[in-house]
Amino acid sequence: MRLMVLAKVTAVSLFSIALFAACNAGGAANYSIKESRDYEASMFRQNCAICHGPEAEGRTLADGRVIPNLRVGPHKYATDEQIYQHISEGGNGMVPFRGQLSDREIKMLVKFVQEKLRK
Ligand code: HEC
Repeated sequence: MRLMVLAKVTAVSLFSIALFAACNAGGAANYSIKESRDYEASMFRQNCAICHGPEAEGRTLADGRVIPNLRVGPHKYATDEQIYQHISEGGNGMVPFRGQLSDREIKMLVKFVQEKLRK
């Protein structure tokens, strides 16, 4: 009898652990830019998806140039400052957004890249 109770308790806790793990595994990897109502996601759809793809998965252009995946590394620009600088000034095939997006919007996108896409 005791053994049965123990088995039940074990089964229930294993189930909770599995459930918890499943929920945690979601998060960033499953963050959908297409479906999100976040302001950052809408900025991304308007300004960035054309090159980086609708879910920031990157792409290879017809001429062989590679637009990087913003979710899966290795990433060329690591720090907030480097990413800010790159979005603001562009370079190596990326257009500068300094004139189109405000300082605040670029900072929001830096956070978006770091916290929603890369994590
Ligand atoms: C005209 C096409 C184009 C557009 C539009 C564009 N990008 Fe890029 N992006 C690129 C290319 C090409 C690179 C690679 C640059 C390099 O290697 O230095 C890049 C690199 C990046 C990187 C660095 C990736 C790394 O490996 O560290 C980030 C972050 C990024 N883009 C974010 C954005 C965001 C945010 C937007 C929208 C505001 C955007 N990009 C719009 C073409 C584009």
